[in-house]
Amino acid sequence: MKKLDIHCHILPKLDDGSGSLQESIKMLKMARRQNVISVIATPHYSAQFKNDNPEKIQRLCKTLEEKAQEVVDPEFRIYPGQEIFYTDDILEKLNRGEILTMAGSRYVLVEFMPDVPYSQILRAVTELVFAGYIPVLAHTERYRALREPGRVEELTEMGAYMQMNYRRIGGKWYEETVRWCRKVLKEEKVHFLATDMHDLKYRYPATADAEMWMYKHLDRQYMRKICFKNAEKILGYNR
Ligand SMILES: [Fe+2]
Repeated sequence: MKKLDIHCHILPKLDDGSGSLQESIKMLKMARRQNVISVIATPHYSAQFKNDNPEKIQRLCKTLEEKAQEVVDPEFRIYPGQEIFYTDDILEKLNRGEILTMAGSRYVLVEFMPDVPYSQILRAVTELVFAGYIPVLAHTERYRALREPGRVEELTEMGAYMQMNYRRIGGKWYEETVRWCRKVLKEEKVHFLATDMHDLKYRYPATADAEMWMYKHLDRQYMRKICFKNAEKILGYNR
């Protein structure tokens, strides 16, 4: 199935993702073989990786896109974005244009610590929505607080979207996180799937196992939405 990847660390030397242009290209080739047709590059914005230079990210996207169009796929697009570790000063930074939304839209990809209290996610979503942004929670499966019944639903009702990593869906069926992922997918409570690819060795693009499971258990139209169509809405936001 065709895929638009809205969360990946494909830009070289900005964070714990790709280490070189060659590695980026190899990752993109691997992703393209899995039917990923374009990506939003989302380098970290966090205490560890202070990527607060949007122009640099935009420039790197252009450079990598040109190379990818040469050697991966002439139609391949790489849109700028960021994965933002949420703290109190994020809103100000977004408003000042110091960190990037997703592909120039009002959607923002936000992450938290895995053990974040639910109240903190709730507050972040409230603040972002109130300021006119559309929060997308990166790798939703990572936050223990969201396993409590009703919480994913509450955040969604408030205007947040849920992103899940392909890799977790394709894991071993007896793992607790995998089971939770598959349960909320069957309930159609996830809005985006992404690779969150970082490298070629440990966190490479891995969608095949997830796709195999989804073909067996999910409605085709819902699959198309979470792999592609919902992401298309982010890209088409300003058009
Ligand atoms: Fe990530």
